[in-house]
Amino acid sequence: MDRISIVGGQRLNGTIPISGAKNAALPLMIASLLTPERLTLKNVPNLADVNLLARILRNHGLDLTIDGKRANPSPHMGETFHLSARDIVDTTAPYELVARMRASFWVLGPILARCGRARVSLPGGCAIGTRPVDLHLMGMKALGADIDIDGGYVVAVAPKGGLRGARIIFPKVSVGATHNVLMAATLAKGETVIENAAREPEIGDVAECLVKMGATIEGIGTSTLRIQGTSRLEGAVHTVLPDRIETGTYAFAVAAAGGDVELSGARKSLLETALSALAQTGTSVAETKGGIRVTRNGGGIEPISIETQPFPGFPTDLQAQLMALMTRADGTSVIRETIFENRFMHVQELARLGADIQLHGDTATIKGVRQLRGAQVMATDLRASVSLVIAGLMAEGQTTINRVYHLDRGFERLEQKLSRCGANIERLVSA
Ligand code: UD1
Repeated sequence: MDRISIVGGQRLNGTIPISGAKNAALPLMIASLLTPERLTLKNVPNLADVNLLARILRNHGLDLTIDGKRANPSPHMGETFHLSARDIVDTTAPYELVARMRASFWVLGPILARCGRARVSLPGGCAIGTRPVDLHLMGMKALGADIDIDGGYVVAVAPKGGLRGARIIFPKVSVGATHNVLMAATLAKGETVIENAAREPEIGDVAECLVKMGATIEGIGTSTLRIQGTSRLEGAVHTVLPDRIETGTYAFAVAAAGGDVELSGARKSLLETALSALAQTGTSVAETKGGIRVTRNGGGIEPISIETQPFPGFPTDLQAQLMALMTRADGTSVIRETIFENRFMHVQELARLGADIQLHGDTATIKGVRQLRGAQVMATDLRASVSLVIAGLMAEGQTTINRVYHLDRGFERLEQKLSRCGANIERLVSA
C-alpha cells in the first residue's frame, strides 16, 4: 500500500489549482441516469471515488466516455465526461459496490423515478458514524414508493403511473437525502416541495444542471426546493463547480506551514464561514481575480472555537483540517462536531505527532503546543487523512502517512500540488 512521506518545516509559496468538487461530481454523474440523452460534465476531478462510481453506473447500463485533461488547457479544469444512460439495463445496485462508497446509494431516486423500481443495497456503517438512510426512504415513500428491506437491500417500487409529487419536510438536514429526493422528484407527476432541504452549494450545482436538463426547480440555494415534475429530461452540458473542501484544506495548509499561495479557480463565496474562521486565526485571506490568496508570514496562530453546522455553517468536512492547525495555536481552541457522532479518529493520530487534545463527547479541546514532531500515522478516513498531511507540514522531521488510499478518494494530485509550492512531500509507492 502506498504511503506519503512529509518532512515538515517548509513554507508554501506559489499557486495551487483547485479541482472540480467531488461532492458535486458524484451526484451529477448519478443525475445522468434520469435521461436517455447524453449529459456532458466538464471539470470532473480524477479521483478514486469518481472512478468507482463510474464502475457502478456502468453496471446499470451507462455508457461513459472521457476526454482527457489535454483537451482542457486550464490547470484547474478536470476531465470531460460524456454520460448516456439510454437504457437502464439493471435496476440493482449491489452490496459489493454500494458498501465501498455511500454516495452510490443516491442512485435509488433516479432509477426508481425512471424505471418504476430499484433495488439498492443498504450502504452499511462507516468509520465516521452510523449514517442511516431513513430520510432518503422517508422521501421516496412520500413520493408514493412502496419500500421494503429485503436481504440488506432497499426494494423500492413506484405506484402505477409513476412517482407522485409531495410535500416533504425533512426533520434533519441531509445532503444525500436532499439530492436523492430532488432527483427523483424531477420525474414525478406534479409538484414536490422539499422543506428543510440541505443548502450545500453542491446541491445548487446539481439543481442547476437538472434545470439545464429541462427540470423546473425554484428555490435553488434555499432550504425550500419546489420542483415541477416532468415526464422526460433531456441531455445537457454542465461544468462542475470548484471544490470548496479542497479549497479550505489548502487554505488551512498554507496557514499551518506559513507562506503565500494563490488557490486558483477557487470561489470565496462557497466557503465564507471557513475562510472567516481562518482569518480569525491571523491568516490573511483575499479574493483575487483568479481565485483566493492565502498568506501567513511570521505571526502566530490565534486559537478559535467552532462548531460544525450544515451549510452555510462551518463544514464538518473541514473540521479535522482546522483541528490540525489548532494543534499549534497560541492557546486553547474548542471544536464541537455536530454532524457526525464519531468524526474524531484523527485525534489519536494527531496525538502521535505531539498534539494535546482532550475529547469529551462531541467536543474536542485543543491546547496549542510549541512543536509537533514527525511520526508514523494512519489515515482513517478522507478528511482525517488530509489533516495528518497538514500536521505533517508543520511537524519537525519526517511524518509517514499509511493507508493513503483514503486521500486518493477525494484529493486529486495532492503531493504534486503541495510539492510545487515547496512542500517536502512524496509518495512512497509500494511494490
Ligand atoms: C454528505 C457529503 C459529506 C459531508 C456530509 C455533511 C457527499 C458525497 N458527501 O454526506 O462529505 O460530510 O454530506 O455535510 O456529498 N442522516 C440521517 N438519516 C439519513 C441521512 C443522514 O440521520 O437518512 C444523518 C447522518 O447520519 C448525519 C447527518 O444526517 O449525522 C448529515 O448527513 P448527510 O448530510 O446525509 O451526509 P451525506 O449526504 O452522507
